[in-house]
Formats: sequence, C-alpha cells, structure tokens
Amino acid sequence: MSTIINKRAGRGCFVTVEGTEGVGKSSNIAFIEQQLTEAGVDVVTTREPGGTPLGEEVRTLLLDHRHSGMSVDAELLLMFAARAQHIEQLIEPALARGQWVLCDRFTDATYAYQGGGRGISVERIAVLEQWVQGSLRPDVTVLLDLPVEIGLARAAERGTADRFEKEQQPFFEQVRNAYLAQAKSAPERYRIIDASRTLDEVQQQLQRVMKNLLSEAGV
Ligand SMILES: Nc1ncnc2c1ncn2[C@@H]1O[C@H](COP(=O)(O)OP(=O)(O)O)[C@@H](O)[C@H]1O
Ligand SMILES: [Mg+2]
Repeated sequence: MSTIINKRAGRGCFVTVEGTEGVGKSSNIAFIEQQLTEAGVDVVTTREPGGTPLGEEVRTLLLDHRHSGMSVDAELLLMFAARAQHIEQLIEPALARGQWVLCDRFTDATYAYQGGGRGISVERIAVLEQWVQGSLRPDVTVLLDLPVEIGLARAAERGTADRFEKEQQPFFEQVRNAYLAQAKSAPERYRIIDASRTLDEVQQQLQRVMKNLLSEAGV
C-alpha cells in the first residue's frame, strides 16, 4: 500500500495495537516487536495510557479503584494529558529519528472506551484528538478481535481487575462494537486479527500482517 511509503518520507512507521480486555495485546506486542527487529527495523515499544514517567503516574490514577467516582470528562482529559506528554517526549521524536513506534493502545482506545463505553460523543473526542495530536495518526492499527466473554475470562485469570476491568460485559460489548465500527470506517489503516484462536495461530496471523506491512513500507 503506497500510502504508508508516501507518508513516511524518512519517518518511522507508527503502529498501534488495540482490542478489549484479554484479547492478547500485551502477550503479542513482544512478538510483533521481534518480527520488526528481525527485519532490521529500529523499534520503540510503548503503551497507553503511560509511556513516560508522567504518563505512567496518570495511568495509575486512571486504573485505581479509589477513583471509582471519576467523571467521564476527567477520565477523557487524563487520557489526553498522558497522550500529550507521550507524543512530545517519546512518540514524535522517535518517528522523526526514523524509528518505528509500536504502541499498546492509542486514541482508537479513547474512541472505543470513553466513546463507545462511556458514551462521550465522537465529535468531543475528535476536538481533543486534533488539539493534542495535530496531524499525528497511526499508520497501521492491529485490532485483536474476540468475543467479549472470552477476553474477560482470559483477563480474569490474569489476577486482580483494575478500574476498567471491573466494568460489566455490556460495557465491553459497546467497546468492541466501537472498535469494529472504526475498523470498518478506516479499512486501509486497520488489520483485524481473529484473537479467539490459539496464541500460535494468532501469531501466524500477526506474522503475515507484519510481513505485508514491512513490504509496503519498503523495508
Ligand atoms: N490466543 C490466546 N489463547 C489463550 N490465551 C491467551 C491468548 N492470548 C493471550 N492469552 C492469555 O490471556 C490473558 C490476557 O492476555 P493479555 O495479553 O494480558 O491481554 P490484553 O493485554 O489484551 O488485555 C493472559 O493470561 C494471556 O496469557
Ligand atoms: Mg495488556
């Protein structure tokens, strides 16, 4: 896809990984990083909310049960506050140096969770996206998709639930539907992976996606 090459012009590629709880984002990010590194790409792996010392402190606030009464706008603004720091301190400098950035969640998660899940309008989120990011958007977004109940069962095995993981299934159905709607509206950017398969099969799908991406990016 020439769009990736055209956009890059010496800049690194910005790859994000998205999906609801327990789909396997964290499990697979190291695998994706390895695929890129083996191809000779200099990749910086990071996550949201977080990725900087300030952002990680904001993450702690966002996930902490003590803040179960957090207003939806406070949640939205904290997400973008962490993101502003992340972009200025880490993402933009890395891309400008020609490094690739691989990020566990980004603004699509805001549209899915604070939009689909919490009910904040797309228009309101888009204002902050434009304000904080300017023209910065992911080049490619890998969406690990899976029926919500399977993901929640996997996440439950992982241990104590954070403030988001304590939400109920209907919330995550809305989050999943919002992700799928975004993928449908931006098919050139999204790569959907069937995350209900075994880890091995998921990684085979990821390997194909990364191979294509590397060839599209001219690596
Ligand atoms: N394809 C898979 N099949 C079965 N279990 C998986 C698979 N992928 C990940 N898991 C397990 O599911 C749990 C949640 O995975 P994780 O990577 O933490 O998800 P996420 O970061 O998307 O919330 C972990 O215990 C992980 O080992
Ligand atoms: Mg994770």
